[in-house]
Amino acid sequence: MKILVTGGTGYIGSHTCCELLNSGFDVVIVDNLSNSKREVVNKIRIITKKNVTFYKCDVCDKYKLRKIFDREDIQAVIHFAGYKAVGESVKEPLMYYHNNLLSTISLLEVMKEFGCKKIVFSSSATVYGNPQKLPIKEDFPLHTTNPYGSTKLIIEGILKDLYNSDNDWSIAILRYFNPIGAHKSGLIGEDPNGIPNNLMPYIVKVANKQLDVLNVFGSDYKTRDGTGVRDYIHVVDLAKGHIKAIEKVIKDKGIDTYNLGTGRGYSVLELINTFVKVNKIDVPYKIVERRPGDIDMCYASTEKAKKILNWSAKLNIEDMCRDSYNFVVNSKKNKKSGGKHESL
Ligand SMILES: NC(=O)c1ccc[n+]([C@@H]2O[C@H](COP(=O)([O-])OP(=O)(O)OC[C@H]3O[C@@H](n4cnc5c(N)ncnc54)[C@H](O)[C@@H]3O)[C@@H](O)[C@H]2O)c1
Repeated sequence: MKILVTGGTGYIGSHTCCELLNSGFDVVIVDNLSNSKREVVNKIRIITKKNVTFYKCDVCDKYKLRKIFDREDIQAVIHFAGYKAVGESVKEPLMYYHNNLLSTISLLEVMKEFGCKKIVFSSSATVYGNPQKLPIKEDFPLHTTNPYGSTKLIIEGILKDLYNSDNDWSIAILRYFNPIGAHKSGLIGEDPNGIPNNLMPYIVKVANKQLDVLNVFGSDYKTRDGTGVRDYIHVVDLAKGHIKAIEKVIKDKGIDTYNLGTGRGYSVLELINTFVKVNKIDVPYKIVERRPGDIDMCYASTEKAKKILNWSAKLNIEDMCRDSYNFVVNSKKNKKSGGKHESL
């Protein structure tokens, strides 16, 4: 069965393509490479020893999308493509609304034209805003604090309206918590340019001496050690959650929403200390002012995904810290040798 993966050369998409191929699906990737590199396609092939079809295409481009649907017998779609930086979305809201909404609407229109009505969508725990209770359940009130989050909430609404208009659709909305880690091979992972928004890429850049010091934003939150607590999930566990979700939408019609997290929260300092211990490397940090909009604690209730998708995260915080660093060390080695040792 052939699955179209939009944003498939990105961080979560590339890991999901590996899991799809390993589970026997055929994979067609569509990505405009605005935040990823073409070489990822080859790395997916090396990891899985399977072929994958790649189209450089903007998902907003309906004309090109139609040609792809015409040529490939797409049975279902996993839609990762989109912009994801909260801070950037505050500065460039139109760019976020344009890309995230238009790509989704174009994709859904073309899917509808071709009678392909099965989709898994990447949403985010950011749609819960500042939760009143923990752990966070899927039926909690939704509220966003930035344009990026608003795009996710609007798309969730579009998908619900679409299903209400036509019960033939099968839709899974996945709300991710905080994906970190990388594939064990060290070939694919997350490597943003400049100063990262998220904690783990920031820790890794400081450990790797690309940045001098890690800024820890606030130490007066209502948590164990005063720093913010988040539910970190290994990207390979997250990718495996997509296999369960796509199997579910292939099998059953309907629309449903699932949290994908571990159900456990770690503070910023706990994550730094674990990273230092596991990788035996120093990560200098300093406490600075809180960032506006950051919340004290956030972790998922994972009961629904466990019960309905039969999925739960298996990898622990040590695995996440080790694999995140291994990816960067491996990428550095590859760059020095001109990428020659891209083999497993
Ligand atoms: N990483 C996280 O912390 C996180 C958390 C919650 C939700 N998400 C969501 O998961 C999805 C994947 O996230 P990621 O971390 O892998 O991000 P990523 O930036 O690594 O991957 C997204 C991919 O989509 C591509 N893309 C963007 N706009 C496109 C367009 N119009 N047409 C074609 N390709 C396009 C980019 O080139 C990139 O390869 C995103 O929708 C993101 O909002 C991510």
